[in-house]
Amino acid sequence: MADYQTFQHDVLVIGAGGAGLRAAIEASAAGVSVGLVCKSLLGKAHTVMAEGGIAAALGNVDDRDNWKVHFADTMRGGQYVNQWRMAELHAKEAPDRVRELEAWGAVFDRTKDGRILQRNFGGHRYPRLAHVGDRTGLEMIRTLQDHGIHQGIEVYMEHTILALLKEGERVVGAFGYERERGRFKIFRAKAIVLATGGLGRAYKITSNSWESTGDGLSLAYDAGAELIDMEFIQFHPTGMIWPPSVVGILVTEGVRGEGGILTNNEGKRFMFEQIPENYRTQTADNAEEGWRYCQGDKNARRPPELLTRDHVARCIVREIKEGRGTPHGGVYLDIAWIKEKMSNSAEHIKRKLPSMYHQFKQLADIDITEQPMEVGPTTHYAMGGIHVDADTQMSRIPGLFAAGECAAGINGANRLGGNSLSDIVVFGKRAGEYAAKFAKENSLGQIDQGKIDLAASEAVAPFERAAGENPYSVQRDLREAMQDLVGIVRTESEMKTALEKLKGFWERANRAGVIGHREFNPGWHTALDLKTLLTVSEAITLAALERKESRGAQFRDDYPDKDDQFAKVNTMISKAADGSMQIRLDPLPEMPDYLKQVIEEMK
Ligand code: FUM
Repeated sequence: MADYQTFQHDVLVIGAGGAGLRAAIEASAAGVSVGLVCKSLLGKAHTVMAEGGIAAALGNVDDRDNWKVHFADTMRGGQYVNQWRMAELHAKEAPDRVRELEAWGAVFDRTKDGRILQRNFGGHRYPRLAHVGDRTGLEMIRTLQDHGIHQGIEVYMEHTILALLKEGERVVGAFGYERERGRFKIFRAKAIVLATGGLGRAYKITSNSWESTGDGLSLAYDAGAELIDMEFIQFHPTGMIWPPSVVGILVTEGVRGEGGILTNNEGKRFMFEQIPENYRTQTADNAEEGWRYCQGDKNARRPPELLTRDHVARCIVREIKEGRGTPHGGVYLDIAWIKEKMSNSAEHIKRKLPSMYHQFKQLADIDITEQPMEVGPTTHYAMGGIHVDADTQMSRIPGLFAAGECAAGINGANRLGGNSLSDIVVFGKRAGEYAAKFAKENSLGQIDQGKIDLAASEAVAPFERAAGENPYSVQRDLREAMQDLVGIVRTESEMKTALEKLKGFWERANRAGVIGHREFNPGWHTALDLKTLLTVSEAITLAALERKESRGAQFRDDYPDKDDQFAKVNTMISKAADGSMQIRLDPLPEMPDYLKQVIEEMK
């Protein structure tokens, strides 16, 4: 058991998606030594799954756009339970972060006069998403990686962190293992930034890749940080539903931004019948106007397919439930129809949506320039996560910072598409800056050998239960339960059943056994991921039960309306001294008058 290798850095960043890379770049630029740990290979982060663009009020396509409109859109999309300060910083700083990416080599699509092109997305009043075809996240990762590689950052690929180490209240290191060889590693650090992304793998149908098991949230929670707004899980309206091997893979909102329409098996554009009252004045009520909007007509209103994701996803579910779905149980997303409007539509679609064209051609044998796609909702994003200070991104644990999807607050009850890519660079930068500052002001702490030995013995425990429960079965059953019982439409009785089931899954996870040894052992990795999946699943379910109303991404069939009681509160999850999960409601910070005024003006 004594074969630990120890590494030492001023700042340790855990996670190498956009937020982690941006934090590492900033910390390194501040002159501190930086270690960057990633579960997968560098460059293979889930950031690449935000395809359609990065939201920033550059005003290149519509000069009426500015940070105030972006702020107001983000707050309205989040149904006003967002942390207003994060939404403000995000709207103000996103344009600079996009220009910085451009300066570092990101090759954005261009307007005719050579500026960064911006496209429409749901809930954004003006064309706001700077993009690179439908590969924006990929280009961002490439750019950040190319830039970061020259900063002297030490990268540890294919490493999983299992525990954060503390001295008193302060975080002083992390313990984990190298996935290939199974060797244990100790990382000593003066400050740590968690940037581990999302938790979509807690659900059966998800756009998230295998790494998205909520690791950062679980690590932070175990170490004593708080989780906020865990009930708000975003189901992206359009994931692939056929063939079975590709269910859940994202179909970018960019398809709808470019004029794609949603229809049911009767050929009807059902979204026209589902325009909520507060969006009515801004939403087109006829196909012609919606198309003009997608073509950049500033006087036209957005098509109803570009309403917020929570709403569109629920409308799709309704169509399917009421028997108007497609043969494989989804709805149609049709971009091919634009051939009625353009003679060169096939080339246009391939140029604007190259990944979607290849994705459907190769995975489903569908030519999207000629045929509609079949799509349905897929678990895409967690609005909830680690509670951090808006300005510094530090959690309530001194020295522990978080950024990107694993941190929370900016999105409230529902995130607008494209706001995640801007979130990761705005708050990744801030986390890196403040972590470096913290590291300069503090020395390395003492590592408690007893805690490391305990973490290591827990990690190898599955080998002592070779005849134990198969970790894959526990994982499968957990994901199915979350999908069925804590999904798009929720009820108290189903969620209570989910909580009971989760107790059983914890017991089964504690009995999970693996054979073989620590080298190249995916069964072992799966057994170790169960704890994080269970922690986040329990937090989601508890928070969703506590919020007895429907708001944004949380839809309760038993409480179908918004309730003023919950209009100004966040759910907060923390670990009690006895190890149990506690939930409470906290009042939202009071919004200052100048921001209230912005929201009023934008109405
Ligand atoms: O639809 C998309 O391209 C996803 C973008 C996002 O989640 O921000």
